[in-house]
Amino acid sequence: MTALAPKRNVHITGTGHSVPEKILSNEDFARIVDTNDEWITTRTGIKNRHVGEPDEKNSDFITAAAKAALASSGTDAEEIDYIIIGTVTGDLIFPSTACIVQERIGAINATGWDHSAACSGFLFGIGQAKGLLKSGMGKKALVIGAEMLSRITNYKDRSTCVLFGDGAGAAVVELKEDAPGGLLGLYMKTDGRLVHLLNAPAGGSANPPTPEIIEAGTNKIHMKGNEVFKYAVRFMGDACRRVLEQADMAAADVDLFVPHQANLRIIEALGSRMEMDSSRVYVNLQEYGNTSAASIPIALDQAIEAGVVGEGSKVLMAAFGGGLTWGAALVQL
Ligand code: ACO
Repeated sequence: MTALAPKRNVHITGTGHSVPEKILSNEDFARIVDTNDEWITTRTGIKNRHVGEPDEKNSDFITAAAKAALASSGTDAEEIDYIIIGTVTGDLIFPSTACIVQERIGAINATGWDHSAACSGFLFGIGQAKGLLKSGMGKKALVIGAEMLSRITNYKDRSTCVLFGDGAGAAVVELKEDAPGGLLGLYMKTDGRLVHLLNAPAGGSANPPTPEIIEAGTNKIHMKGNEVFKYAVRFMGDACRRVLEQADMAAADVDLFVPHQANLRIIEALGSRMEMDSSRVYVNLQEYGNTSAASIPIALDQAIEAGVVGEGSKVLMAAFGGGLTWGAALVQL
């Protein structure tokens, strides 16, 4: 049995993405740190990642992704009420990258801000858009996940540097009356007791950057990878179960599962936990690595572009990141 979608619901009506041209391959990393293609491929599934040049900015990729999402939904920038960006690598400490992007895309009627939920940033943005639009505060939002993780990656730490890439993904989220489908389930959660597992310990206001901090690299990503791994499988699995329950659906009803692209072994463990064979699980991390908040909207846009899913398809998305933060969303396109 499938629950009916609410009469007044938010829908994803357009998507877009953009990544830097420059690629770092596993062979490139074998020249930088003590690693090799075999280790990276078997432990993570990653082969390449796109990384910005020094003169490229997070807002460059966000602007391109946002314009593509607007075009694919047939929305003018002036119709956008909110620009909600999940990122931990905004262009500036302040103001928000959303304000920079607002000017660049000409969304003069919008209100925009950035929020920090690490890899869960896109799904948490969907949650914010849902709350605002369903409460009557506007009709259309641009929900974006974007990172330049290369700027906070420690290229001397082989256990983390091979994982991350840059990019941006965007979706137009729109309130509709009496339309089938839309957002059928959503779950968001954090557990601040696990901050220590994945973070950038310095460089913020608690420990402002100093020459010593920069030399030690404590302003870059630190992760207890194997502990994070176990939580990732458990928490995303639980989030998926909850949103399927909200929609009164089973994993068998889902056309495509789009998990956060952190590690192929995490994705395979999740797929088998939900008894979803690999043909219904979208994987692009071999070419992009972990792009944090951007990973789900990039993958979703690619799946739509390639015709893997289309109007009426049910897509389950699951995210997990530093905080710890995690969540899932089920949408019918
Ligand atoms: N090349 C070669 N050897 C390596 C490398 C490397 N790049 N990195 C680590 N190793 C070594 C370690 O030093 C260790 O050696 P030792 O046994 O001699 O001590 C060995 O490999 C095993 O290390 P583990 O950390 O146990 O390896 P694991 O199988 O757990 O894989 C990984 C590490 C890939 C990081 C994995 O734990 C993982 O993917 N974790 C989850 C990441 C994630 O989901 N993050 C959340 C989102 S990220 C965000 O929010 C920004």
